[in-house]
Amino acid sequence: MSGIAILAIDGPSASGKGSVAQRVAEALGFAYLDSGALYRLTALAAQQTGVDWSDEDGVAKVALSLDVRFEKGLTFLAGQDVSTLIRSENIGVGASQVAAFADVRQALLARQRDFAVVPGLVADGRDMGSVVFPDAQLKIFLTATAEVRAERRFQQLIARGESADLAAITRDLQSRDERDAARKEAPLRQWGDALLLETSQLSLDQVVECVLSWWKTRTET
Ligand code: CDP
Ligand code: CDP
Repeated sequence: MSGIAILAIDGPSASGKGSVAQRVAEALGFAYLDSGALYRLTALAAQQTGVDWSDEDGVAKVALSLDVRFEKGLTFLAGQDVSTLIRSENIGVGASQVAAFADVRQALLARQRDFAVVPGLVADGRDMGSVVFPDAQLKIFLTATAEVRAERRFQQLIARGESADLAAITRDLQSRDERDAARKEAPLRQWGDALLLETSQLSLDQVVECVLSWWKTRTET
């Protein structure tokens, strides 16, 4: 991957990874990888083909043979537009369950690395800086308090015209983060060389500005 610039953004659910990474990628003219979407697609594909989320071998096979296409902001699974379907909390829970399996993570590794193209890539997830792109020029651990993150997810659903229950969102988000942090494989945490960006008091614009200035400092010195 030499010659390809990589900016890795990891962090818990609703910390703003996706929104920030997409805007930063656009500003830099880089490609964008939403690695969580691959885990969500794996969970959905398993569900659609009758493979239980607890069946590591079965889900790993599903992950290896995923027929996925990302096009114009939409996500297709075997030709079907599943952009909205994969964002449901149920599929988020499934993604978190299948993501705990080493064989599933291994099956998705090469697919994630394929997103790295010249001139560069902004990748978001849980292990972008630790496992998938350990040589990334800049690694950021993006976070915010659980209350702020739950409120952000709540507002996001309301803005999309979907029904939302703040208490249920808070509960689901916390239990998913606990499972992601407690697992043996690529647990959710701020790894040694990642810079912490606590965003509870920051707007999306301020976060994007901060990430871009860190990138400039890191790559121009
Ligand atoms: O990808 P992740 O689950 O980490 O979060 P997201 O879906 O990108 O962001 C959740 C919501 O928080 C979005 O509606 C953002 O606009 C909003 N938000 C943010 O990302 N960062 C802030 N500093 C403030 C709000
Ligand atoms: O948007 P949000 O942060 O809620 O979730 P996501 O990034 O779409 O990821 C869904 C689930 O996939 C997470 O809860 C993790 O268990 C898993 N995941 C992972 O293990 N490693 C990644 N690089 C990305 C996601």
